[in-house]
Amino acid sequence: TTLTQAEDEAFEAYVGDQLDAVERRLSAITLTAANPFLAEAAEHIIAAGGKRFRPMLVAVTSQLGPQPNDAAAQIAAVVVELTHVASLYHDDVMDDAALRRGVPSANAAYGNSTAIMVGDWLFARASNQVATLGNDFVRMQADTFAELVTGQIDEMRGPQPGHDAMLHYLNVVAGKTGALIRTSAVFGAMTSGASREVLDALAQFGMQIGVVFQLADDLMDIMSDDSGKAPGTDLREGVSTLPTLMLAASEDSDDDELKSLIAGDLADDDVLARTLAMLRANHVIEEARADIVQRAELARKQLDLLPDGAATRALSRLCDEVVSRSN
Ligand code: FPP
Ligand code: MG
Ligand code: MG
Repeated sequence: TTLTQAEDEAFEAYVGDQLDAVERRLSAITLTAANPFLAEAAEHIIAAGGKRFRPMLVAVTSQLGPQPNDAAAQIAAVVVELTHVASLYHDDVMDDAALRRGVPSANAAYGNSTAIMVGDWLFARASNQVATLGNDFVRMQADTFAELVTGQIDEMRGPQPGHDAMLHYLNVVAGKTGALIRTSAVFGAMTSGASREVLDALAQFGMQIGVVFQLADDLMDIMSDDSGKAPGTDLREGVSTLPTLMLAASEDSDDDELKSLIAGDLADDDVLARTLAMLRANHVIEEARADIVQRAELARKQLDLLPDGAATRALSRLCDEVVSRSN
């Protein structure tokens, strides 16, 4: 076990070095802007930090094939993070969000039109970067972009008549978040020439852990006061998530008051705060947590299909981290 431990520590150090290189590449991207205003607005959310979950996934899975390529893995990580940040610029306009990564959202700082344009610019830079990796990467990037948009559109339209609200939500989450996290896991492995079997297992794993990641994130919208985002944004915008869907399905009449609060107008800060407090104390929070844990364990099962080693063990630790965010 001491040998395994040393191997794991060396692996973490390698991933840390790769992420440092990714940071340098991300900073260099904004310098390619044609004017300083665009550069500043593009740097705004990138420089605010973030977990860099997708780049980390790329760095880890880039060690699962026979020909690791550090530079290619760094570029793939830049592509997925730029795509993610681009989608956040647009998402915060649509969600009318004031805060992102602990700083004013781009729409709050520069207005909606600029936020949309900068999101487009970031996506354009991602496209430029992915071109250096070849056609297979470009095609997957394009298809992933389409899935992100489809998930977002489905969220905006809501469940259609006769369709199950929980299935609709899980489908939305798979599209708007699962798809890019799946592609991150696959991209890393592709840069190292991994086998079809490894790529398929990583696609399954990435989608499943990506869904868990968003479910945990949605729970934090309710539970956390220091997530870098304003708590209760989903509630205020009328976006249903795992706990509120569980609440809607509850037949307990003790839940009726909270149900009607959530269905009502939450524009007033005091009303929102009261609703949030009631929801935090409701039984659905523990039920949602249990569901998240169970889904993370299912994702972890995919790792049995991967070669034993430090990279696969790192993916297993990642499952624990995604779950513990929501505790
Ligand atoms: C966050 O969800 C939003 C996403 C994960 C992506 C949404 C997709 C788009 C806006 C379309 C893609 C556009 C480009 C340019 C690639 P959330 O609102 O639930 O999460 P939050 O709490 O972090 O705001
Ligand atoms: Mg949002
Ligand atoms: Mg959104």
